[in-house]
Amino acid sequence: MQEKDLGADLRSVLITKQEIDARLAELAAKIDAGYEGKDLLLVGVLKGAVMVMADLARALATPVTMDWMAISSYGAGTQSSGVVRILKDLDTDIKDKHVLIVEDIIDSGLTLSWLLSNLGSREPASLEIMTLLRKPEAAKVDIDVKWVGFDIPSEFVVGYGLDYGEKYRNLPFIGTLAPHVYGG
Ligand code: PRP
Repeated sequence: MQEKDLGADLRSVLITKQEIDARLAELAAKIDAGYEGKDLLLVGVLKGAVMVMADLARALATPVTMDWMAISSYGAGTQSSGVVRILKDLDTDIKDKHVLIVEDIIDSGLTLSWLLSNLGSREPASLEIMTLLRKPEAAKVDIDVKWVGFDIPSEFVVGYGLDYGEKYRNLPFIGTLAPHVYGG
């Protein structure tokens, strides 16, 4: 799916595919340096992190394994509540492993805050976070994020894994939608 396929639904392109690729290459080099000589397990959070996980993993020189979690927050609409339940747990035991959580976006931070405490209790050797996007103005909890792709304004974004009503995940860029899409 490309910009032209969105037609009038697209308001603006916030981050292009080229910008995402360049930033992921920079972060991959830093992550490689951070895990030199270590085995690394990437944990992706479904579904939004699928694209960033796929591209980051391929940009890394470090040999990695990958696992996935599906979690659901009990919350109304587009806001996460911080009350989380596991829909699909990891297949692997992460005890004594170096774990890097790969996220598409940190909004309030409530989801990751819960995930950090859940995975932390499984006694990994290390536990860090990489997120493609972060909305600093929306933060409700303070989270120590080691690698951030882009800090963005607090507006609703889609594409590159991020959805609105499950659509737009297969856009190669991050964009904002026209008000009429939301019924405005
Ligand atoms: C998104 C994103 C994070 C969470 C961030 O997932 O992938 O997991 O919201 O929000 P927070 O910082 O306010 O907690 P979402 O619940 O939209 O699920 P999805 O990835 O399947 O689209």
